Amino acid sequence: MGSRKPWGGRFSEATDPTVERFSASVHFDRALALHDLRGSVAHARMLGESGVIPGEDAEALVRGLEAIRAEVEAGSFVFDPGLEDVHMNVEARLRERIGAVAGKLHTGRSRNDQVATDLALYLRDAARAARRGLLGLEGVLVERAREHLGTVLPGYTHLQRAQPVRLAHHWLAFVEMLARDRGRFADLEARLAAAPLGAGALAGSTLPLDRHHTARALGFEAPSVNSMDAVAARDGALEWLAAAAIAMVHLSRLAEELVLWSSAEFGFVELADAYSTGSSLMPQKKNPDVPELVRGKSGRAIGNLVTLLTVVKGLPLTYNRDLQEDKEPIFDSATTLRDCLEVTAGAVATLRVNERRMAEAASDPMLLATDLAEALVRENVPFREAHEAVGRVVGDCVAKDLDLRELSLEDLRAFHPAFPAPASELLDLERSLEARDLPGGTARRRVAEALEAAEARARAAQAELDAQGPGGGDAS
Ligand code: ARG
Repeated sequence: MGSRKPWGGRFSEATDPTVERFSASVHFDRALALHDLRGSVAHARMLGESGVIPGEDAEALVRGLEAIRAEVEAGSFVFDPGLEDVHMNVEARLRERIGAVAGKLHTGRSRNDQVATDLALYLRDAARAARRGLLGLEGVLVERAREHLGTVLPGYTHLQRAQPVRLAHHWLAFVEMLARDRGRFADLEARLAAAPLGAGALAGSTLPLDRHHTARALGFEAPSVNSMDAVAARDGALEWLAAAAIAMVHLSRLAEELVLWSSAEFGFVELADAYSTGSSLMPQKKNPDVPELVRGKSGRAIGNLVTLLTVVKGLPLTYNRDLQEDKEPIFDSATTLRDCLEVTAGAVATLRVNERRMAEAASDPMLLATDLAEALVRENVPFREAHEAVGRVVGDCVAKDLDLRELSLEDLRAFHPAFPAPASELLDLERSLEARDLPGGTARRRVAEALEAAEARARAAQAELDAQGPGGGDAS
């Protein structure tokens, strides 16, 4: 075993088998294989072109690496856990295929700048995948919002009915959150633009490597500015995990509403059979397991962020093996976010809205109490005084079990002399919605405008993503 290690020369004893198992990462970092191969192909080409190794050796390396890429893509590459990590697996396979010249691939390179490069490539692809997934869910929400411009439900604060809103307005609130999530992934991509390759173990190389060459070939803007930062930093990964955790928290809030709304107590929506499960015991049950799992999985995404923050927090410069612990949280959050976006989009696209139940809930005249206070404000009553008067009106109605809308002008004036009209004239659901005609409000034309804007923004984002292409690895 010892002789298979790239550091074998310095060592006379083989690694303890427990240590081999303990330190191996190939069972998870194999997810980086295609990114690792991209990095190695660029490095090999650069070695040839800058004359560090003979051109024909570089060509042999590239041909061998391309053949291995085909094996990985076909799923026929056999990862050997005895070879520790993905990097050594690829190099060992290269040696099998092209012989001793394979030993030239690692010229001027360390696994430290190699793995930092792989990770940056992976995170860039994963950021794009996240943007695509977010855009998909935004599209579904916008479509459903367009169907429900005229559907009215109570908006809530403290989970208490507060004021009526359009369902379109409600769902567009999530569209705004998801669009900002997409923005976060786009922003952090811009900070993954420095290529670590050429930083070596930590202090660069005595060999005439062309760092600009590899940076360009891999789609980075430039080589990293500081070789120590290049191998030590993981803030790109942290930012990615933070963006994923925030997006998952948004999905969790949407999921929570789907759970609440599909309960008999609300009855606002019914999830499609395809997105629900039954009970093994109670035949009548239809359970919202899909949104529940989305809500539950947001915990993993938060945990993954905290895991890596904690791993990095106490590390001296530069590379420390602790950093191998960066990968599983990232892979887990990538898969979790991808899957949650997909099932949430499916659940929202297929759910049935119970407009009648929403309308019933929104017809509670108490939801218009604010409008009554604002009617007094229009008569030049200070808002605090108006609020207090309407508070007494409401309290009286509740105590006497009266419908607010039935109060005559005389009834109202008993509470404040400035009331201008009977309650029936001041309280009308549709008028109340339409009166909220400020930017960002619930008036039909404002919501319609917001829909148009969300659609235009999504079209532009889709065009940008299409132009960027899918990326070169298989980040979920
Ligand atoms: N598997 C390692 C990681 O993920 C690769 C780098 C190893 N570098 C080292 N000096 N042991 O971090």
